[in-house]
Amino acid sequence: RLAEKDAYDVVLVDIAEGMPQGKALDISQAGPVCGYSTRVVGTNGYAETAGSSVAVITSGIPRKPGMSRDELLATNAKIVKSVVSELVSRSPDIILILVTNPLDAMVHVARLVSGLPKSRIIGMGGILDSARMRSFIAAELNVPGPDVQAMVLGGHGDTMVPLPRYTTVKGTPVSDLMPKDKLDAIIQRTRDGGAEIVGLLKTGSAFYAPSASAVDMVEAIHKDQKRVMPCSVLCEGEYGLKHVIVGVPVRIGRKGVEEIVEYDLAVDEQAALEASANAVRELCAAV
Ligand code: LAC
Repeated sequence: RLAEKDAYDVVLVDIAEGMPQGKALDISQAGPVCGYSTRVVGTNGYAETAGSSVAVITSGIPRKPGMSRDELLATNAKIVKSVVSELVSRSPDIILILVTNPLDAMVHVARLVSGLPKSRIIGMGGILDSARMRSFIAAELNVPGPDVQAMVLGGHGDTMVPLPRYTTVKGTPVSDLMPKDKLDAIIQRTRDGGAEIVGLLKTGSAFYAPSASAVDMVEAIHKDQKRVMPCSVLCEGEYGLKHVIVGVPVRIGRKGVEEIVEYDLAVDEQAALEASANAVRELCAAV
């Protein structure tokens, strides 16, 4: 997806010998047909990543059917620790976008290992969860997906906090457009959205919507868009949350996190966000 934007030099890193090199060739060879000339390099090391401005870290094992994201904690913490230190030692100005699960805890690991300022460590969860909710609403109402706006806060896990009050179709609140039971079912399907795909694929988790969401973040950084997107970042007092990583609306620009935007939350929404933050806290303590 990054290659298709024709605006980046892309380095693919994986431990599997030949795999990133093969993918890089395949993606390069699609360029003449699709109209991009992005330089894509595949490697099993990190030398080629030196001087990177952004890294998208997806390394780790995916869930198997029936597993929660949290069950990946110990294995993926080790992997992310090593990847982050390899990257940061070669690219001191890098901005890290974490995708590996359990997402919020991996942002915590990246913080511990990298020593980077909190503005340069961002987890991709809320954009994906919001995209799932938008897509379900679009299908239910038979409207174009891009016309639907949604906001899902909280940890990228079973405690995520979809906000129907901030969910609209071309400005109309979604609660005016569908009965409550339909909306509740969509909220639950959003919470289970990753697991639904894991259950169908059986040997991996989602690719297309997560990659689209991560690339949206890369673009917001690269083009200094200052867009507000739900991302997992360290909160230090925002939303009354003290020193915890959780999904909140974040203004993203060239420097990474420029601001955490504080929406007015209803009492039940605030309580759900705090419960989600507490679940993340427990995982981070286990790391
Ligand atoms: C998902 C994984 C990437 O939600 O967390 O599909």
